[in-house]
Amino acid sequence: MAVGIFDSGLGGLTVLEAVRKRLPEVPFVYLADSAHAPYGVRTPDDIYALTKAAVARLWEEGCDLVILACNTASAAALRRIQEEGLPEGKRVLGVFVPLIEALTERDWGDNSPPREVAVKHVALFATPATVASRAFQRELAFRAIGVDVEAQACAGVVDAIEEGDMILAEALVRSHVEALKRKMPAPDAAVLGCTHYPLMEDAFQQALGPQVKVFSQAGLVAESLADYLDRHPDMLGAGRESRFLTTGDAAQVSDRATAFLRRKIAFEAA
Ligand code: DGL
Repeated sequence: MAVGIFDSGLGGLTVLEAVRKRLPEVPFVYLADSAHAPYGVRTPDDIYALTKAAVARLWEEGCDLVILACNTASAAALRRIQEEGLPEGKRVLGVFVPLIEALTERDWGDNSPPREVAVKHVALFATPATVASRAFQRELAFRAIGVDVEAQACAGVVDAIEEGDMILAEALVRSHVEALKRKMPAPDAAVLGCTHYPLMEDAFQQALGPQVKVFSQAGLVAESLADYLDRHPDMLGAGRESRFLTTGDAAQVSDRATAFLRRKIAFEAA
């Protein structure tokens, strides 16, 4: 009954921690494509091919349901993977929809027509590939009207986090927030549209100021997954064991993951 969680690297661990807490009885298989991270500077075709291979690897692990805990993969590859048809009994879900449902005050899975919502000026922080895809704006337009979105491509932040250089990551966050504020001086909400960014949430909140509500995905994805599994209990796949897999150097990835989560994490070679 395992569920697959995929990210290019360590960022999806923020989602994994939240889903583990929310669904302690469910085994999760986490796959980090560390050998090819970061995805945010790759082309859509490249991201699609890498994501497809990763999803297939998680299906092999007995995960019928795979969560793309990576906005870049969700933005550049999810729609294409779904449109070309999934094997019988397999599902792939992304991380945008729960975030947008929360931002637009909807119940999970509510697909009613777009309507006016409380937030009017939204700052989106994401990787260059996610920003270029405009997937966030597209998904938002299905659910809300009259929302102004200003997107800031946060070059370098994922690399710094993957390297464990949090001082550089913080400096980059401050400079990206300044750049955003020059385009949108008074956002009422900010979306951390990359699963690495919750690791920098305090830096974003501090740079944005207390008046800006910061939406971070991990908790929202966990609530939405719990609701989804309630409605689709058959999607708990055959796998029984929680595992951490990486396409990169397992010892190095384990050390960094252990430092981020402050508990022992042992990755194995994928
Ligand atoms: N955590 C991924 C995301 O949510 C990072 C992407 C990357 O590897 O650049 O977009």
